[in-house]
Amino acid sequence: MKIINSIIHMQALAIAPEREGRRIAFVPTMGFLHEGHASLLREGRKRGDVLVLSIFVNPIQFGKNEDLDSYPRDMERDFQLAEACGVDIVFIPTATEMYPEGFQTGVSVREIALPLCGASRPGHFDGVATVVTKLFNIVRPDVALFGCKDFQQLAVIRRMTVDLNLPVEIVGMPIVREADGLAMSSRNAYLSPAERQSALSLSRAIKRARELFASGERSIDVLEKETRALIEQESTAVIDYVEFRDGATLQGLEVADSNTLLALAVKIGQTRLIDNTVLGEEL
Ligand code: PAF
Repeated sequence: MKIINSIIHMQALAIAPEREGRRIAFVPTMGFLHEGHASLLREGRKRGDVLVLSIFVNPIQFGKNEDLDSYPRDMERDFQLAEACGVDIVFIPTATEMYPEGFQTGVSVREIALPLCGASRPGHFDGVATVVTKLFNIVRPDVALFGCKDFQQLAVIRRMTVDLNLPVEIVGMPIVREADGLAMSSRNAYLSPAERQSALSLSRAIKRARELFASGERSIDVLEKETRALIEQESTAVIDYVEFRDGATLQGLEVADSNTLLALAVKIGQTRLIDNTVLGEEL
């Protein structure tokens, strides 16, 4: 497994003649890897001749009062997981090379980036779209894999890839959950044992909404009330949003159908967690 820090070096490997016509599969991450990332890497291994993982805690997608400085990091453990998943190249650029003095260009996706996390975290998706575009230009992947836990992020990246004619196939991979239902996330590391229990209210709420939908409930009003009530039972849980939206456009709805997305963002203590489900999707 090769570790590459320099943009020029990474780009040189991704361009002919070094590339030698090989397909590049790419998994961009911010590190502190878990089973969710491993599922992306294993799928990437199948889809490409060369598997590239990037680890970069992207400063421009964090707001002023967010967790950029405390974002969990463990390079040694990440290397072990990467090696076990068959990664060929780990690309770890520095912030100063990604955003040198004078940097002033950004990629901004409009409507689909506005609601949900876009409303709670202004500028977040501009930061994501900009860094993913840069990473695509450096790594030149044929296929890039992202987790569906960040449903809106995936929608933004798909939109941007189509709108900017980026020659890369985007693959979304299912949410990976702990045995008790908690969606895997690097931020779960922040939770105390008691908060870890409260955090289960997110997956419980998702389960309840899916059950109601399966038993014929279609009113968004009813679904939302029931879902919120379940989370509000947890005294440490503070809802940022509980929203039902169209799974393709992220527009608001009054009546649910099988493509309706339930998206949640909830603060458990100091930790903001997100989770989601598409009501009619088989799990
Ligand atoms: O999902 C993430 O880890 C990040 O948002 C991404 C896509 C690597 C961009 O920094």
